Amino acid sequence: MIYDSQYNRLALLGSEVRGVSLFDTTLRDGEQTPGIALSAEDKMRIASALNDLGVDIIEAGFAASGDSEKDTIKQIAKMGLSSTVCSLARSNKNDIDRVLDCDVDYVHTFIATSDIHLKYKLKMTRDEVKAKAVEAIEYAKSHGLKVQFSCEDATRTDLDFLKEMHVTVQEAGADAINIPDTVGVIYPSAMTYLIKELAKVTEVPMAVHCHNDMGLAVANSLAAVAAGAKQIHVCVNGLGERTGNAALEEVALGLYANFDTEVVDLSKIGDISKTVSRITGWPIPYNKPITGRNAFAHESGIHVHGVLNNASTYEAFRPELVGMDRHIVLGKHSGTHSVKDRLNALKIKFPDECIPKLLAKIKDLAVSGKEVDDAELMAIADHIMWKRIGEDAVKLKEFAVFTGKGVTPTATVTVDIDGEIRTSSNTGTGPVDAAIKAIRCAVNEKITLEEYKLSAITGGSDSLCEVTVVIKGTYDDSRLSVGKAVGLDIVGTSVDATMEAINRDYIRGRKE
Ligand code: KIV
Ligand code: ZN
Repeated sequence: MIYDSQYNRLALLGSEVRGVSLFDTTLRDGEQTPGIALSAEDKMRIASALNDLGVDIIEAGFAASGDSEKDTIKQIAKMGLSSTVCSLARSNKNDIDRVLDCDVDYVHTFIATSDIHLKYKLKMTRDEVKAKAVEAIEYAKSHGLKVQFSCEDATRTDLDFLKEMHVTVQEAGADAINIPDTVGVIYPSAMTYLIKELAKVTEVPMAVHCHNDMGLAVANSLAAVAAGAKQIHVCVNGLGERTGNAALEEVALGLYANFDTEVVDLSKIGDISKTVSRITGWPIPYNKPITGRNAFAHESGIHVHGVLNNASTYEAFRPELVGMDRHIVLGKHSGTHSVKDRLNALKIKFPDECIPKLLAKIKDLAVSGKEVDDAELMAIADHIMWKRIGEDAVKLKEFAVFTGKGVTPTATVTVDIDGEIRTSSNTGTGPVDAAIKAIRCAVNEKITLEEYKLSAITGGSDSLCEVTVVIKGTYDDSRLSVGKAVGLDIVGTSVDATMEAINRDYIRGRKE
């Protein structure tokens, strides 16, 4: 179910879309992303995931680019996938021969047709380009290959010449013709116009290959489909030359949302996006549509309240549709609803009167750039409930620690004990040791540290840490007192835990 805009339906009335498929070029154009290089094993894993997802064609590489590329395409062709495996080739017999060596049944061959490319790259005339295209297609067809032909830089090619190319290549036997927006410059309504013009002379199915230089690759691809194109070239996570190609996830969802057509198994989209990100080492931007970390994350109080009542308030589609999860993020904009919802979900019984304290701690952490995850929320909530014992008798007024390489860690603290101000300094084997010793000097020299435990709550280097200290001797007796604290920095959190243990003992002393 998509909670989309009713205006889409109105605007798209009459554009009936049937038989659309995806041509995935993650392993070819996607691998051309500057900084990405895939091994044969990497490519086979991605090919297998694309096959499970249900893409129609997998462009596995560019056979003429080298022997190892050729071997990899051959290995992918041997995997027995349901998707058709294809290789790219320039429009010449040598490149087509390299494709034939790979034992694939399908070739995607191309030659540039824009005047810019003819003049500055190919240094060929239009007639020469046409002849090369025909020669390559006829050669590929005579060797039993299915052929998809592309006029590279089609969207900057003179329309009459582009039409002439379409007529010529389909007469030569092309099974499909692709229209590349090679430098990502066309605008969606111009794409509609172009496809409709080309449809006047094109009998074979048309595909589009849109680059994202102006951020319009997905919009242009969907506009092409509405105008009659039957296939869309895509890359997982929008990989591809420069700023990439149309993102598979976004195109697939756009087709489902606007044209009721499910071209791949949508529920596998989250997984394939993560798999490709892991294999390529290319992170998924947090704000990437469909599969970014924030695609179904809600933080602000108003939004969370809405989503908890009914997700359609702030989600156009459910995360499950695309194999993702919703998560409520606790941070600077969180409100009581979000916090209570998380506490309930974690089955933590937390007193209502302490919620403001919990929110204040979350916001405090958020100001230092930290979102609070479930494990951290549990630790903070635990800490607040545990601490509900009364006013601190010993207050930490100031604290400084000096440490570094080749210097003795030294700490200075100033405490206020029931109105009496005391300052002390001490050194230690490390900054935590120095800080705890300085506190002991200021409060009571006889305090001994019986136990110290430090744990990181989650794995990251920005994780919260939890410190537990057990001390003895605040009142010159043998009773133990425990203090716990949660925070971002180890030394500060250790100091907080020590102060807490001291205060617990002071409170006990006052009660006795
Ligand atoms: O962007 C492009 O024009 C291409 C061609 C090889 C089709 O990738
Ligand atoms: Zn491309």
